[in-house]
Amino acid sequence: MGHIMQTHAHDTPEQTAFLEEAAHLLGPRGLTRDPELIEPWLTDWRGHYTGAALALASPASTEDVSALVRLCARHGIAIVPQGGNSGMCGGATPDASGQQVILSLRRMNAIRALDAEAMQITCDAGVVLQTLHEAVAAQGLRFPLTLGGKGSATVGGLISTNAGGTQVLRHGTMRAQVLGLEAVLADGSRFDALAPLKKDNRGFDLKQLLIGSEGTLGIVTAATLRLAPALGGRAVLWAGVASLQQARALLLHCEARAGTAMEGFEIIPAYSLAAVLHHLPGSRAPLDTEHVWHVLIELAAPLGAADALPAQAEDLLTSAFAAGLIENATIAASESQAEAFWLLRESISAAERARGPAVQHDISVAVERMPAFIDFVMPEVEARFPGTRAIAYGHLGDGNVHLHILAPAGAVPGEWQQTTGKKISALIYDCVVAWDGSISAEHGIGQAKLAELARLTDPVRLHMMQAVKKALDPSNLLNPGKLVPLAPVRSTP
Ligand code: MLT
Ligand code: ZN
Repeated sequence: MGHIMQTHAHDTPEQTAFLEEAAHLLGPRGLTRDPELIEPWLTDWRGHYTGAALALASPASTEDVSALVRLCARHGIAIVPQGGNSGMCGGATPDASGQQVILSLRRMNAIRALDAEAMQITCDAGVVLQTLHEAVAAQGLRFPLTLGGKGSATVGGLISTNAGGTQVLRHGTMRAQVLGLEAVLADGSRFDALAPLKKDNRGFDLKQLLIGSEGTLGIVTAATLRLAPALGGRAVLWAGVASLQQARALLLHCEARAGTAMEGFEIIPAYSLAAVLHHLPGSRAPLDTEHVWHVLIELAAPLGAADALPAQAEDLLTSAFAAGLIENATIAASESQAEAFWLLRESISAAERARGPAVQHDISVAVERMPAFIDFVMPEVEARFPGTRAIAYGHLGDGNVHLHILAPAGAVPGEWQQTTGKKISALIYDCVVAWDGSISAEHGIGQAKLAELARLTDPVRLHMMQAVKKALDPSNLLNPGKLVPLAPVRSTP
Protein backbone atom coordinates (compact mmCIF):
# COMPACT_ATOMS: atom_id res chain seq x y z
CA MET A 1 0.00 0.00 0.00
CA GLY A 2 1.41 3.37 -0.93
CA HIS A 3 1.26 6.42 1.35
CA ILE A 4 0.85 9.89 0.01
CA MET A 5 3.58 12.16 1.34
CA GLN A 6 2.87 15.83 1.08
CA THR A 7 5.45 17.46 -1.20
CA HIS A 8 6.56 21.08 -1.28
CA ALA A 9 7.48 23.10 -4.34
CA HIS A 10 11.02 23.70 -3.07
CA ASP A 11 11.80 20.01 -2.42
CA THR A 12 14.69 18.74 -4.51
CA PRO A 13 14.14 15.58 -6.59
CA GLU A 14 16.42 13.76 -4.13
CA GLN A 15 14.31 14.90 -1.17
CA THR A 16 11.09 13.93 -2.96
CA ALA A 17 12.43 10.47 -3.71
CA PHE A 18 13.59 10.06 -0.12
CA LEU A 19 10.27 11.23 1.33
CA GLU A 20 8.28 8.86 -0.85
CA GLU A 21 10.39 5.88 0.11
CA ALA A 22 10.46 6.87 3.79
CA ALA A 23 6.65 7.29 3.83
CA HIS A 24 6.28 3.86 2.30
CA LEU A 25 8.69 2.39 4.86
CA LEU A 26 7.31 4.01 8.00
CA GLY A 27 3.65 4.59 7.24
CA PRO A 28 1.61 7.61 8.33
CA ARG A 29 2.38 7.22 12.05
CA GLY A 30 6.07 6.98 11.31
CA LEU A 31 6.60 9.97 9.05
CA THR A 32 5.00 13.40 8.97
CA ARG A 33 5.50 16.79 7.38
CA ASP A 34 2.58 18.32 9.24
CA PRO A 35 3.97 21.63 10.59
CA GLU A 36 1.77 21.43 13.69
CA LEU A 37 3.08 18.00 14.62
CA ILE A 38 6.68 18.97 13.95
CA GLU A 39 6.67 22.38 15.57
CA PRO A 40 7.14 21.30 19.25
CA TRP A 41 10.34 19.49 18.30
CA LEU A 42 12.02 22.36 16.47
CA THR A 43 13.01 24.35 19.55
CA ASP A 44 15.25 23.22 22.39
CA TRP A 45 14.08 23.19 26.01
CA ARG A 46 15.81 26.43 26.92
CA GLY A 47 14.38 28.12 23.84
CA HIS A 48 17.81 29.13 22.57
CA TYR A 49 17.60 27.38 19.18
CA THR A 50 14.84 26.96 16.66
CA GLY A 51 15.38 25.03 13.45
CA ALA A 52 13.35 23.65 10.58
CA ALA A 53 12.92 20.06 9.43
CA LEU A 54 12.30 18.25 6.17
CA ALA A 55 10.14 15.76 8.09
CA LEU A 56 9.69 14.12 11.47
CA ALA A 57 10.38 10.39 11.39
CA SER A 58 9.19 8.24 14.28
CA PRO A 59 10.16 4.64 13.58
CA ALA A 60 8.71 1.92 15.79
CA SER A 61 11.58 -0.58 15.77
CA THR A 62 15.32 -0.90 15.38
CA GLU A 63 14.72 -2.53 12.00
CA ASP A 64 12.85 0.58 10.87
CA VAL A 65 15.59 2.86 12.20
CA SER A 66 18.13 0.81 10.22
CA ALA A 67 16.08 0.94 7.05
CA LEU A 68 15.45 4.66 7.44
CA VAL A 69 19.13 5.42 8.02
CA ARG A 70 20.01 3.36 4.92
CA LEU A 71 17.55 5.47 2.97
CA CYS A 72 19.03 8.67 4.36
CA ALA A 73 22.51 7.49 3.45
CA ARG A 74 21.41 6.68 -0.09
CA HIS A 75 19.81 10.09 -0.61
CA GLY A 76 22.29 12.15 1.41
CA ILE A 77 19.74 13.27 3.99
CA ALA A 78 21.08 14.40 7.36
CA ILE A 79 19.52 13.03 10.55
CA VAL A 80 18.97 14.72 13.91
CA PRO A 81 18.22 12.02 16.51
CA GLN A 82 15.90 13.18 19.28
CA GLY A 83 14.71 11.74 22.58
CA GLY A 84 12.72 13.82 25.06
CA ASN A 85 14.03 17.12 23.66
CA SER A 86 15.05 18.23 27.14
CA GLY A 87 18.75 18.69 26.36
CA MET A 88 20.52 21.86 27.42
CA CYS A 89 22.82 22.53 24.46
CA GLY A 90 20.62 22.37 21.36
CA GLY A 91 22.05 18.93 20.51
CA ALA A 92 18.67 17.59 19.35
CA THR A 93 17.53 20.68 17.45
CA PRO A 94 17.86 20.68 13.64
CA ASP A 95 19.55 23.54 11.84
CA ALA A 96 17.62 26.22 9.95
CA SER A 97 18.07 24.69 6.49
CA GLY A 98 14.90 22.59 6.58
CA GLN A 99 16.91 19.78 4.96
CA GLN A 100 17.43 17.62 8.03
CA VAL A 101 15.13 14.88 9.23
CA ILE A 102 14.32 14.69 12.93
CA LEU A 103 14.49 11.05 13.95
CA SER A 104 12.41 10.74 17.10
CA LEU A 105 12.96 7.62 19.19
CA ARG A 106 9.90 8.32 21.32
CA ARG A 107 7.73 5.65 19.75
CA MET A 108 10.30 3.03 20.65
CA ASN A 109 9.36 2.82 24.31
CA ALA A 110 9.16 -0.87 25.14
CA ILE A 111 10.84 -2.53 28.07
CA ARG A 112 12.35 -5.58 26.38
CA ALA A 113 13.42 -7.55 29.45
CA LEU A 114 13.73 -6.99 33.18
CA ASP A 115 15.91 -9.49 35.02
CA ALA A 116 15.30 -8.77 38.70
CA GLU A 117 17.80 -11.36 39.90
CA ALA A 118 20.62 -10.08 37.72
CA MET A 119 19.43 -6.52 38.45
CA GLN A 120 19.39 -5.52 34.78
CA ILE A 121 16.86 -4.04 32.45
CA THR A 122 16.94 -3.95 28.66
CA CYS A 123 14.78 -1.28 27.12
CA ASP A 124 14.22 0.71 23.97
CA ALA A 125 15.81 4.12 23.63
CA GLY A 126 12.50 5.97 23.89
CA VAL A 127 11.64 4.83 27.42
CA VAL A 128 11.20 7.93 29.60
CA LEU A 129 13.36 8.05 32.73
CA GLN A 130 10.40 8.35 35.09
CA THR A 131 8.72 5.34 33.44
CA LEU A 132 11.93 3.41 33.93
CA HIS A 133 12.03 4.39 37.61
CA GLU A 134 8.46 3.22 38.08
CA ALA A 135 8.91 -0.04 36.16
CA VAL A 136 11.89 -1.14 38.21
CA ALA A 137 10.42 0.06 41.51
CA ALA A 138 7.55 -2.35 40.91
CA GLN A 139 10.16 -5.14 41.03
CA GLY A 140 11.80 -3.92 44.25
CA LEU A 141 14.67 -2.28 42.38
CA ARG A 142 15.80 1.19 41.41
CA PHE A 143 17.68 2.86 38.60
CA PRO A 144 20.21 5.05 40.40
CA LEU A 145 20.26 8.11 38.17
CA THR A 146 17.82 10.98 38.27
CA LEU A 147 17.52 14.58 37.14
CA GLY A 148 15.02 17.40 36.89
CA GLY A 149 13.92 16.46 33.37
CA LYS A 150 12.99 12.88 34.31
CA GLY A 151 9.42 13.27 33.04
CA SER A 152 10.64 13.78 29.47
CA ALA A 153 14.28 12.65 29.21
CA THR A 154 14.61 9.29 27.45
CA VAL A 155 17.09 6.47 27.90
CA GLY A 156 18.55 7.13 24.44
CA GLY A 157 19.00 10.83 25.12
CA LEU A 158 20.49 10.16 28.55
CA ILE A 159 23.00 7.79 26.98
CA SER A 160 23.81 10.01 24.02
CA THR A 161 24.61 12.89 26.35
CA ASN A 162 26.12 10.80 29.15
CA ALA A 163 23.67 12.47 31.52
CA GLY A 164 24.62 13.03 35.14
CA GLY A 165 22.07 14.40 37.60
CA THR A 166 21.97 14.35 41.37
CA GLN A 167 23.19 10.83 42.23
CA VAL A 168 26.51 10.92 40.40
CA LEU A 169 28.29 11.39 43.73
CA ARG A 170 27.54 7.80 44.69
CA HIS A 171 26.57 6.03 41.44
CA GLY A 172 28.38 7.77 38.59
CA THR A 173 27.05 9.14 35.30
CA MET A 174 25.24 7.22 32.55
CA ARG A 175 28.58 5.70 31.56
CA ALA A 176 28.49 3.72 34.79
CA GLN A 177 24.88 2.55 34.30
CA VAL A 178 25.05 1.25 30.74
CA LEU A 179 25.95 -2.44 30.64
CA GLY A 180 25.03 -3.03 27.03
CA LEU A 181 24.02 -1.03 24.00
CA GLU A 182 22.36 -1.32 20.62
CA ALA A 183 22.84 1.39 18.03
CA VAL A 184 22.28 2.00 14.34
CA LEU A 185 25.36 3.29 12.55
CA ALA A 186 25.56 5.80 9.70
CA ASP A 187 25.29 3.12 7.00
CA GLY A 188 22.20 1.61 8.65
CA SER A 189 24.00 -1.38 10.15
CA ARG A 190 23.08 -2.46 13.66
CA PHE A 191 25.77 -2.48 16.34
CA ASP A 192 24.56 -5.07 18.83
CA ALA A 193 26.38 -4.97 22.14
CA LEU A 194 23.34 -5.39 24.36
CA ALA A 195 24.66 -8.43 26.22
CA PRO A 196 26.16 -7.29 29.50
CA LEU A 197 29.67 -8.61 30.04
CA LYS A 198 31.59 -7.85 33.18
CA LYS A 199 34.86 -8.51 31.41
CA ASP A 200 35.44 -7.95 27.70
CA ASN A 201 38.82 -7.19 26.24
CA ARG A 202 38.14 -7.28 22.53
CA GLY A 203 39.91 -3.99 22.09
CA PHE A 204 38.25 -0.58 21.88
CA ASP A 205 35.29 0.03 24.16
CA LEU A 206 32.89 0.88 21.33
CA LYS A 207 29.93 1.05 23.69
CA GLN A 208 31.63 3.81 25.68
CA LEU A 209 32.58 5.53 22.42
CA LEU A 210 28.90 5.81 21.54
CA ILE A 211 27.87 6.95 25.03
CA GLY A 212 28.13 10.73 25.13
CA SER A 213 28.60 10.99 21.35
CA GLU A 214 25.36 13.00 20.99
CA GLY A 215 24.09 11.01 18.02
CA THR A 216 27.09 11.94 15.88
CA LEU A 217 28.48 8.38 15.61
CA GLY A 218 25.36 6.26 15.81
CA ILE A 219 21.76 6.30 16.94
CA VAL A 220 21.18 4.54 20.24
CA THR A 221 18.14 2.29 19.85
CA ALA A 222 18.26 0.21 23.05
CA ALA A 223 20.33 -0.39 26.16
CA THR A 224 20.86 -2.78 29.01
CA LEU A 225 21.07 -0.83 32.24
CA ARG A 226 22.38 -1.60 35.69
CA LEU A 227 19.85 -1.57 38.51
CA ALA A 228 20.34 -1.29 42.25
CA PRO A 229 18.32 -2.76 45.11
CA ALA A 230 15.43 -0.63 46.28
CA LEU A 231 16.21 1.59 49.21
CA GLY A 232 15.09 0.67 52.68
CA GLY A 233 14.85 4.35 53.47
CA ARG A 234 16.45 7.71 53.12
CA ALA A 235 17.06 10.81 55.19
CA VAL A 236 16.97 14.13 53.40
CA LEU A 237 18.66 17.03 55.13
CA TRP A 238 18.67 20.73 54.37
CA ALA A 239 21.39 22.94 55.85
CA GLY A 240 22.32 26.61 55.67
CA VAL A 241 26.04 27.33 55.33
CA ALA A 242 28.04 30.54 55.27
CA SER A 243 30.32 29.88 52.33
CA LEU A 244 31.23 27.40 49.64
CA GLN A 245 34.38 26.53 51.56
CA GLN A 246 32.10 25.55 54.45
CA ALA A 247 29.93 23.53 52.09
CA ARG A 248 32.99 21.64 50.89
CA ALA A 249 34.11 21.05 54.49
CA LEU A 250 30.60 19.79 55.25
CA LEU A 251 30.80 17.38 52.33
CA LEU A 252 34.07 15.94 53.64
CA HIS A 253 32.55 15.72 57.10
CA CYS A 254 29.53 13.82 55.75
CA GLU A 255 31.65 11.47 53.68
CA ALA A 256 33.86 10.70 56.66
CA ARG A 257 30.90 9.98 58.95
CA ALA A 258 28.29 8.53 56.62
CA GLY A 259 30.49 6.86 53.99
CA THR A 260 28.56 5.08 51.27
CA ALA A 261 25.23 6.19 52.74
CA MET A 262 25.92 9.56 51.10
CA GLU A 263 23.76 9.65 47.98
CA GLY A 264 23.52 13.32 47.21
CA PHE A 265 25.08 16.66 48.04
CA GLU A 266 23.77 19.69 46.16
CA ILE A 267 24.32 23.39 46.72
CA ILE A 268 21.66 26.03 46.24
CA PRO A 269 22.37 29.76 46.56
CA ALA A 270 19.89 32.04 48.33
CA TYR A 271 18.98 33.66 45.01
CA SER A 272 17.96 30.36 43.39
CA LEU A 273 15.95 29.26 46.41
CA ALA A 274 14.03 32.55 46.30
CA ALA A 275 13.45 32.13 42.56
CA VAL A 276 12.10 28.60 43.02
CA LEU A 277 9.82 29.62 45.91
CA HIS A 278 8.43 32.34 43.68
CA HIS A 279 8.02 29.93 40.76
CA LEU A 280 6.45 26.93 42.55
CA PRO A 281 2.99 27.63 43.94
CA GLY A 282 2.59 26.54 47.55
CA SER A 283 6.29 25.80 48.09
CA ARG A 284 8.00 26.64 51.38
CA ALA A 285 11.59 27.26 52.41
CA PRO A 286 12.90 24.35 54.50
CA LEU A 287 14.51 26.74 57.02
CA ASP A 288 13.07 29.94 58.46
CA THR A 289 16.53 31.49 58.65
CA GLU A 290 18.43 33.31 55.88
CA HIS A 291 21.62 31.82 54.48
CA VAL A 292 23.94 32.71 51.64
CA TRP A 293 24.21 29.05 50.61
CA HIS A 294 21.98 26.06 51.19
CA VAL A 295 22.94 22.41 51.00
CA LEU A 296 20.67 19.47 50.25
CA ILE A 297 22.02 16.16 51.50
CA GLU A 298 20.59 12.71 51.01
CA LEU A 299 21.57 9.69 53.08
CA ALA A 300 20.25 6.33 51.95
CA ALA A 301 20.19 2.86 53.43
CA PRO A 302 19.45 -0.54 51.93
CA LEU A 303 16.54 -2.67 53.08
CA GLY A 304 17.11 -3.86 56.61
CA ALA A 305 19.44 -0.99 57.50
CA ALA A 306 17.01 1.90 57.38
CA ASP A 307 16.24 1.95 61.11
CA ALA A 308 19.62 3.46 61.84
CA LEU A 309 19.12 6.36 59.42
CA PRO A 310 17.33 8.90 61.64
CA ALA A 311 20.02 8.63 64.33
CA GLN A 312 22.74 8.82 61.69
CA ALA A 313 21.21 11.96 60.20
CA GLU A 314 20.85 13.54 63.67
CA ASP A 315 24.46 12.69 64.48
CA LEU A 316 25.63 14.20 61.22
CA LEU A 317 23.93 17.49 61.89
CA THR A 318 24.87 17.67 65.57
CA SER A 319 28.52 17.01 64.80
CA ALA A 320 28.54 19.41 61.83
CA PHE A 321 26.99 22.10 64.01
CA ALA A 322 29.54 21.47 66.77
CA ALA A 323 32.33 21.74 64.20
CA GLY A 324 30.99 25.11 63.06
CA LEU A 325 30.20 23.88 59.57
CA ILE A 326 26.51 24.74 59.42
CA GLU A 327 24.43 27.66 60.56
CA ASN A 328 21.10 25.86 60.78
CA ALA A 329 19.62 22.63 59.45
CA THR A 330 16.57 20.44 59.32
CA ILE A 331 15.75 16.84 58.48
CA ALA A 332 12.72 16.09 56.28
CA ALA A 333 10.10 14.70 58.65
CA SER A 334 8.38 12.52 56.06
CA GLU A 335 8.85 11.11 52.59
CA SER A 336 6.59 13.80 51.17
CA GLN A 337 8.70 16.49 52.81
CA ALA A 338 11.81 14.82 51.39
CA GLU A 339 10.18 14.99 47.95
CA ALA A 340 9.36 18.65 48.53
CA PHE A 341 13.01 19.43 49.40
CA TRP A 342 14.17 17.71 46.21
CA LEU A 343 11.55 19.49 44.15
CA LEU A 344 13.02 22.81 45.24
CA ARG A 345 16.41 21.71 43.98
CA GLU A 346 15.14 20.21 40.74
CA SER A 347 13.12 23.29 39.84
CA ILE A 348 16.03 25.73 39.78
CA SER A 349 16.41 25.61 35.99
CA ALA A 350 12.71 26.01 35.30
CA ALA A 351 12.42 28.87 37.80
CA GLU A 352 15.34 30.65 36.22
CA ARG A 353 14.02 30.13 32.70
CA ALA A 354 10.85 31.94 33.76
CA ARG A 355 12.84 34.91 35.08
CA GLY A 356 14.59 36.33 32.03
CA PRO A 357 17.72 36.08 29.89
CA ALA A 358 20.81 34.35 31.20
CA VAL A 359 23.81 32.45 29.91
CA GLN A 360 24.43 29.02 31.39
CA HIS A 361 27.66 27.13 31.89
CA ASP A 362 27.95 23.65 33.30
CA ILE A 363 31.55 23.47 34.20
CA SER A 364 33.87 21.36 36.27
CA VAL A 365 37.22 21.79 37.92
CA ALA A 366 38.94 19.45 40.37
CA VAL A 367 36.43 18.79 43.17
CA GLU A 368 38.60 20.30 45.88
CA ARG A 369 39.24 23.50 43.88
CA MET A 370 35.63 24.30 43.02
CA PRO A 371 34.88 26.59 46.01
CA ALA A 372 37.97 28.68 45.28
CA PHE A 373 37.13 28.77 41.59
CA ILE A 374 33.60 30.00 42.19
CA ASP A 375 34.75 32.57 44.72
CA PHE A 376 37.17 33.84 42.09
CA VAL A 377 35.06 33.74 38.94
CA MET A 378 31.71 35.09 40.19
CA PRO A 379 32.99 38.52 41.34
CA GLU A 380 35.23 38.65 38.26
CA VAL A 381 32.27 38.33 35.89
CA GLU A 382 30.04 40.69 37.87
CA ALA A 383 32.80 43.33 37.94
CA ARG A 384 33.58 43.08 34.23
CA PHE A 385 29.93 43.02 33.16
CA PRO A 386 28.13 45.53 35.35
CA GLY A 387 24.52 44.77 36.19
CA THR A 388 24.89 41.01 35.73
CA ARG A 389 24.37 38.56 38.54
CA ALA A 390 26.30 35.30 38.85
CA ILE A 391 24.73 32.28 40.48
CA ALA A 392 26.20 28.85 41.01
CA TYR A 393 24.29 25.75 42.01
CA GLY A 394 24.35 22.01 41.81
CA HIS A 395 26.74 19.19 42.13
CA LEU A 396 29.53 20.49 44.35
CA GLY A 397 30.45 16.95 45.33
CA ASP A 398 31.21 16.17 41.68
CA GLY A 399 33.28 19.31 41.14
CA ASN A 400 30.50 20.43 38.79
CA VAL A 401 28.36 23.49 39.27
CA HIS A 402 25.97 25.25 36.97
CA LEU A 403 27.32 28.78 36.69
CA HIS A 404 24.60 31.02 35.33
CA ILE A 405 24.97 34.69 34.59
CA LEU A 406 21.74 36.62 34.64
CA ALA A 407 21.39 39.60 32.31
CA PRO A 408 21.00 43.12 33.67
CA ALA A 409 17.47 44.49 33.88
CA GLY A 410 16.24 45.64 30.49
CA ALA A 411 18.47 43.33 28.43
CA VAL A 412 16.82 42.20 25.21
CA PRO A 413 16.31 38.42 25.30
CA GLY A 414 18.12 36.66 22.47
CA GLU A 415 20.20 39.66 21.49
CA TRP A 416 21.87 39.89 24.91
CA GLN A 417 22.90 36.22 24.85
CA GLN A 418 24.34 36.60 21.35
CA THR A 419 26.43 39.67 22.19
CA THR A 420 27.39 40.26 25.82
CA GLY A 421 26.44 36.69 26.75
CA LYS A 422 29.02 35.27 24.34
CA LYS A 423 31.74 37.50 25.80
CA ILE A 424 30.83 36.38 29.31
CA SER A 425 30.94 32.72 28.28
CA ALA A 426 34.34 33.19 26.66
CA LEU A 427 35.67 34.76 29.87
CA ILE A 428 34.28 31.94 32.00
CA TYR A 429 35.60 29.21 29.70
CA ASP A 430 39.04 30.85 29.60
CA CYS A 431 39.07 30.75 33.40
CA VAL A 432 37.89 27.12 33.44
CA VAL A 433 40.66 26.11 31.05
CA ALA A 434 43.23 28.04 33.09
CA TRP A 435 42.09 26.01 36.11
CA ASP A 436 42.41 22.72 34.13
CA GLY A 437 38.66 22.17 34.09
CA SER A 438 36.03 21.20 31.53
CA ILE A 439 33.72 23.56 29.66
CA SER A 440 31.10 20.83 29.73
CA ALA A 441 30.82 18.70 32.82
CA GLU A 442 27.30 17.47 32.24
CA HIS A 443 25.15 18.94 29.47
CA GLY A 444 27.39 18.14 26.53
CA ILE A 445 28.44 20.30 23.58
CA GLY A 446 25.51 20.17 21.15
CA GLN A 447 25.54 23.31 19.03
CA ALA A 448 25.80 25.62 22.02
CA LYS A 449 29.45 25.00 22.82
CA LEU A 450 30.78 23.82 19.47
CA ALA A 451 32.77 26.97 18.70
CA GLU A 452 34.17 27.17 22.20
CA LEU A 453 35.18 23.50 22.08
CA ALA A 454 37.03 24.21 18.83
CA ARG A 455 38.66 27.30 20.34
CA LEU A 456 39.73 25.79 23.63
CA THR A 457 40.41 22.12 23.07
CA ASP A 458 43.85 20.67 22.67
CA PRO A 459 44.41 20.01 18.92
CA VAL A 460 45.41 16.43 19.62
CA ARG A 461 42.08 15.71 21.28
CA LEU A 462 40.18 17.52 18.53
CA HIS A 463 41.99 15.60 15.85
CA MET A 464 41.09 12.30 17.52
CA MET A 465 37.43 13.33 17.69
CA GLN A 466 37.42 14.29 14.03
CA ALA A 467 39.17 11.10 12.98
CA VAL A 468 36.59 8.96 14.80
CA LYS A 469 33.73 10.95 13.32
CA LYS A 470 35.13 10.65 9.82
CA ALA A 471 35.67 6.92 10.17
CA LEU A 472 32.16 6.16 11.43
CA ASP A 473 30.17 8.81 9.55
CA PRO A 474 32.19 9.74 6.45
CA SER A 475 29.31 11.63 4.81
CA ASN A 476 28.56 13.61 7.99
CA LEU A 477 24.88 12.66 8.05
CA LEU A 478 24.52 11.90 11.76
CA ASN A 479 23.68 15.05 13.71
CA PRO A 480 25.96 17.32 11.66
CA GLY A 481 26.97 20.57 13.27
CA LYS A 482 26.90 19.09 16.77
CA LEU A 483 29.70 18.10 19.12
CA VAL A 484 32.49 17.58 16.58
CA PRO A 485 34.01 20.78 15.18
CA LEU A 486 34.69 20.13 11.53
CA ALA A 487 36.81 23.18 10.79
CA PRO A 488 40.43 22.25 10.12
CA VAL A 489 42.43 22.11 13.26
CA ARG A 490 45.92 23.54 13.57
CA SER A 491 48.36 20.65 13.42
CA THR A 492 50.94 20.14 16.10
CA PRO A 493 54.59 19.67 15.22
C1 MLT B 1 20.50 20.57 37.03
O1 MLT B 1 21.46 20.15 37.67
O2 MLT B 1 19.57 21.18 37.55
C2 MLT B 1 20.49 20.28 35.59
O3 MLT B 1 21.71 19.91 35.11
C3 MLT B 1 19.82 21.33 34.79
C4 MLT B 1 20.42 22.70 34.83
O4 MLT B 1 21.27 22.99 35.60
O5 MLT B 1 20.02 23.57 34.06
ZN1 ZN C 1 23.09 19.41 36.65
